[in-house]
Amino acid sequence: MSIHNTNTIHMYNSGGADEYIQHAEIEPETEKWERLFHYIEEQIHQDHSKRIVEFGSGCGELAFMLQNAGYDVIASDIVDHFLDEQKRIGISSVKRFNFLSDDFEEVFSSKADLIVSWRNPHLDIEDMMKLFDVAYDGLNDHGLFIINFQNADVHPEAELLPNGTKYNNKILEDKKTKEKRFYAYFTKEDIDSLRRDLFSVEEYHTEGGSEKKNWHVFTLKKTESRD
Ligand SMILES: C[S@@+](CC[C@H](N)C(=O)[O-])C[C@H]1O[C@@H](n2cnc3c(N)ncnc32)[C@H](O)[C@@H]1O
Repeated sequence: MSIHNTNTIHMYNSGGADEYIQHAEIEPETEKWERLFHYIEEQIHQDHSKRIVEFGSGCGELAFMLQNAGYDVIASDIVDHFLDEQKRIGISSVKRFNFLSDDFEEVFSSKADLIVSWRNPHLDIEDMMKLFDVAYDGLNDHGLFIINFQNADVHPEAELLPNGTKYNNKILEDKKTKEKRFYAYFTKEDIDSLRRDLFSVEEYHTEGGSEKKNWHVFTLKKTESRD
């Protein structure tokens, strides 16, 4: 785990999560969640037998929608405030899981058919590499990995870490938590090097912002087991 992820978790634990939860209550992103929900249903052909695990579920909106639609879904996070919120809204299966250091099968008992990692923009390239390995090992053969990344093409101001990560440290003026937040940006080529030969691309598009380019969205399919 990089120092950036450690700092992010610290930020969420010291007020950032409560603020995120309050914000989601005041301004629920209903349309965005519905779009994601339908996208996921499309990718799994509404197959309710699929076992779904979400990484970094935050307030749990997506997992809750999937659960209500009858899918077998487990929400997870590493920040207790978020886990409490997921339980409070009624998600029945919630696990404490650090997607960069915990063992998938120990926590979730068996492999998944779909793993979703949505809006986890605070991970550098080495964290991302690890996340891809964890998702690969956590999936059944031909399982799907749905993940989005902030697009480097719309952040020409980004700086460069020695390990090649394009990033910014931002203080969000509208947030009470005035700690700097690390945001990483990726090009489509970066993501091709991250997925290596572990995953093939099932679907790709960009979305968000006036030009619909702010985020890369990928549905990746696990290739044959490497062992
Ligand atoms: C920007 S929030 C996104 C939450 C939710 N997916 C959404 O789209 O609203 C990032 C989430 O990832 C979680 N997270 C960050 N690092 C993590 C880690 N190493 N393991 C598990 N969860 C992590 C945070 O606690 C937070 O809930």
